[in-house]
Amino acid sequence: MEPVQTEILKADSLGLDRAAALLAQGALVAFPTETVYGLGGDARNGAAVAAIYQAKGRPSFNPLIAHVASAEVARRYVQWSETAEKLARAFWPGPLTMVLPLRNDGGVSELVTAGLDTLAVRVPAHPAAQAILTRLDAPVAAPSANPSGRISPTTAQHVLNGLQGRIAAVLDDGPCGVGVESTIVGVTEQPTLLRPGGLACEEIETVLGRKLNRREQDEPLNAPGQLLSHYAPRAQVRLNADHAEPGELLLGFGDMECDLNLSERGDLVEAAARLFGHLHKLDAQGKPIAIAPVPMNGLGLAINDRLRRAAAPRPKLAPEIIRRSGIGLL
Ligand code: TXA
Ligand code: MG
Repeated sequence: MEPVQTEILKADSLGLDRAAALLAQGALVAFPTETVYGLGGDARNGAAVAAIYQAKGRPSFNPLIAHVASAEVARRYVQWSETAEKLARAFWPGPLTMVLPLRNDGGVSELVTAGLDTLAVRVPAHPAAQAILTRLDAPVAAPSANPSGRISPTTAQHVLNGLQGRIAAVLDDGPCGVGVESTIVGVTEQPTLLRPGGLACEEIETVLGRKLNRREQDEPLNAPGQLLSHYAPRAQVRLNADHAEPGELLLGFGDMECDLNLSERGDLVEAAARLFGHLHKLDAQGKPIAIAPVPMNGLGLAINDRLRRAAAPRPKLAPEIIRRSGIGLL
């Protein structure tokens, strides 16, 4: 892959125009959403989508989320339903991704769906993301803007640390507010939680008036490509720690002594917003990381999901073996 000079764009009209123009040409642009920075490519352009996989070093083609400006635009690409309408009204724009049956007249590249007959769609709330999507008037495929398997980016600097020279541009609009990826729900007769994320399940269940189907605790592959080892710092990670062993750094939660704290006051929303930034900072010190327990309610579900993956044993498989086995690494 030829190295490129990665442009750093501001979230003003010049920068937003440039971001949309680059995307329209099939180039890759990282941009902020309220959850994490996404690595965007035109979802109708197979070459652009393939370039996303290449830039991330993703070893196989897993389905990606198509980002659109509104529910009205989403309906051009997926088959809508009453439940979809209910969820969209309650939570869009925002950190919810819905997986719905694909419309075959939408023109989304097969590389986005990885050949599935469903499409994941999301309407991000971040004003810069909204501005780009409105200017482009096309669906943008965007996984988190990090090299495959690494910690997700919540600042433009995180994006540059991982992808500088591999993407056309990054639009810098400061840190992401939510800090963990969107909650993914399979919207069928019995709506199913496919990935916990920045929207608490309890809120979705209140709107639906029923419980979401949950995946089994040890079965992490419901959203295809969700391999256990993921969001991984370079250092070893130990969970449920109440103190640091010699040589370890401690990531705390609540009122405790530690190197960095997710939330001194035990607030899960604050903890989610700080999670990846703190992991990036601790990882830069090159020491093993111990992490305090985080409760399992509200955004704690998403935080614990990401921590469990960060601590999981790393696969030492060669990319060809992963590809042949049919499973992918995010
Ligand atoms: O917050 C987010 O969702 C961020 C920002 C950038 O929007 N994006 C993100 O994308 O996290 P990504 O590609 O890292 O995660 C997409 C997840 C994967 O686990 C994938 O397997 C799942 O969505 N997914 C995509 N299409 C799917 C489908 N048709 N059925 C089931 N899961 C799907
Ligand atoms: Mg990701």
